[in-house]
This record gives sequence, structure tokens and C-alpha cells, in this order.
Amino acid sequence: MPKPFEAVRISERVYWVGAVDWEIRNFHGYSTRRGTTYNAYLVLADEITLIDTVKAPFMGELMSRIASVVDPRDIKVVVSNHAEMDHSGSLPDVVKAVKPREVIASTMGAKALADHYHDLTGVVAVKDGERKSLGNMSLTFLETRMLHWPDSMVSYLAEEEILFSQDAFGMHLASHERFDDEIDPAVLEQEARKYYANILMPFSPVVTKALARFAELALPTKLVAPDHGPIWRKDIRGITESYGRWAAQRPTRKAVVAYDTMWKSTALMARAIGDGLAGAGAVPVLLPLSSADRSEVATEVLDAGALLVGSPTINGQMFPTVADALTYLKGLKPANLVGAAFGSYGWSGEGALHVHEALKDMKVELVAEPLRVKYVPSEEHLMSARNLGRDVATRLLRT
Ligand code: FEO
Repeated sequence: MPKPFEAVRISERVYWVGAVDWEIRNFHGYSTRRGTTYNAYLVLADEITLIDTVKAPFMGELMSRIASVVDPRDIKVVVSNHAEMDHSGSLPDVVKAVKPREVIASTMGAKALADHYHDLTGVVAVKDGERKSLGNMSLTFLETRMLHWPDSMVSYLAEEEILFSQDAFGMHLASHERFDDEIDPAVLEQEARKYYANILMPFSPVVTKALARFAELALPTKLVAPDHGPIWRKDIRGITESYGRWAAQRPTRKAVVAYDTMWKSTALMARAIGDGLAGAGAVPVLLPLSSADRSEVATEVLDAGALLVGSPTINGQMFPTVADALTYLKGLKPANLVGAAFGSYGWSGEGALHVHEALKDMKVELVAEPLRVKYVPSEEHLMSARNLGRDVATRLLRT
């Protein structure tokens, strides 16, 4: 039955029926320069089952892909692994159209769905570890609370050895290539890292525990099918190891220097700091906040060992782009960082002082008092900036 949007077969009895969003560039504040996908999966068991849905505007695409394989009204079970609206936004309308016998979510998921969709009733809560027969196949549900919402769970289809992992192991990458081995590994690494930094970093201790639990369960897994981006079939081990490494938040020699500038004085300081960092053996990454957005900063900070932040003073405050990046980063709880604050000013010079306090609040180990320069840095001031870079690098390389 030809349809404008067709399902993609990913294993003998499972199809991808999601949507590709080529347009999105801002996902609740996270810059998605390569777009994204909202993945949903159709399991052709005796009891035909839909796993997750898509963001509301893409409901037509989802239904078309389902209808390219089965009559949507033959779906008996709908599983909601995660209540966030990019996966549940079309759930109420799907339920109305399909009239499944059962909608399943975790205990917290059933509550979250009730709080989102007040007309959606009768969601059945499943317990952690519960197994549900679909006739000739079965799904086992495993709670993954706070990865990354309280409701999050994953579903395991033993007969096809597929783990439907919701957001975990996902990435924002619009593509019609459905599998990891069809995509440039450098792009996969970059987007998976960015996704981890911006979505999962604050829950890193939970990630570590979840990875240990899954290692213990040792579920035979041919495919890891997340709710965004490609399905992992070739390098499941690689992405799992990357998660282990990112969750450990081990510092590297990388030193992120994030700054904004009004008349190039703070930028000059940043450049001298960068040279000082490099000269003492660190690897500086300078991020001018006039062009680097908060989610790029978070991505670089994920495996950094140092964070230096520079701000001019504007009307007694730090620069707005700097405040934005610091507020965002604080919520992501980066760990094991050394650092310092710096900035140029004209009259009162609170900007760098406020940055210093914000970094302290983030538990960054501060190597020096804020380096502040009035108006334009002289050669001597730039030497002080270089020396600050050197001192941060020395402290970093001692850890
Ligand atoms: Fe892709 Fe947490 O939603």
C-alpha cells in the first residue's frame, strides 16, 4: 500500500515509523544545527505494538508510515517510553485514531502523561522489570528514572534482540540513513557528545549506575533503537563506552575559554590566556559567545579540565551572553574543573567579580582572583593574562 511516507524495516518484524525534522534549529535552547528525528517503532507481533510517537506536527508522517505496513487500527498496544512532548505530542491523537487496547508507560510516565494530556485516560503503569506478552513476542520494561526525566524507561524486545532506549544513546541528526554504520563516524561522535553534554550531563552518576545494571543484565542486543538519530547496530559497544567515559567526567588537558567582549579588550585578554594555557601544556578552546551558543559551550566543557570565563562589565553586570552561558552550564553540573574569571571594564568592574562568584557556585576550583583590566589591556596586562593561562594549565596538569 504506497504512502507518501513509508516505514523502514529495521529487523525481521520491526519497522521505523518516525519523522525527520530538517527544520528545527533550536530544541528548547539546544542548537540543533543538523535538525533531528523523532523515532517511533512498529512491532509486528501478534499484538501489533507502537513504541513511542512523534512531536505533534509530525502526526501525519507517523500515521502514513504506519499505514504503509498495516492498518493503523490493527495496533493493539502503544508504549510510551518517555513523556516529553517530542515523543508523546501526538499520543492523544494517535490513541483517538487507533483505539489501542492498551497504552503503557512507567508508573511515573502514567502520571506525567496525565499531567500533560488531561483527556488521555486509562494509561496502564508497568513496573520495573515487568514483562508483557505480545503473543509471539514480548516486551520487558526497565525503568531508567532521571535518564533524563523521572518517567523514562526503556523497552526490550527479546525475540528480535532490540533495546528501545528512548532518549538514551540518541542524537539530534536529521537523516534518512537509519543506521550508525551508514553515517560518518565523526558526525556521530560529535552529535552524540553534544546530546550527552546538553541532555544527560547533569545525570552522569545515574548514567554510570544504569550502565552497570545493563552490563549485569547482559541482554543480547543486535540493535539499540533510540528516539532521536540513527539506530546503533555496528558500534553498540563504542557508544556504550563513550557514555561510560562521559559519565565519569574525567578531566582532560582541554581548557575552555568562554568570553564575550564589547570593544575587544576582553577578547584580547582571552587570546593571551589561550597562549599561556597552550604554552604550559593545556589545549585551549576559545569560544567567543557572540558566535558560540550555550550548547556548544556545554559540549566543549563535557570533557574539559578547565573553564575560564571572561566578561566585560555593562551597567554594573556581566555581559548578558555570559550570564546566559553560565546559568545554562550551572544546571548541567559540569564536574572536576579548575578555572578563573577575567574581563575588562570602564568604571566599576563588577562583571568579572560576578563571573568569579558564579564559577565558585558551580564548584569550579578557582586558581586565582579575577583578573580585571581597566579599559584596554597594555602589554603588561596581557602578560598577566598569559600568566593566568599558565597558572590554570599548571594546576590542571597537576590533577
Ligand atoms: Fe527527546 Fe527527553 O525527549
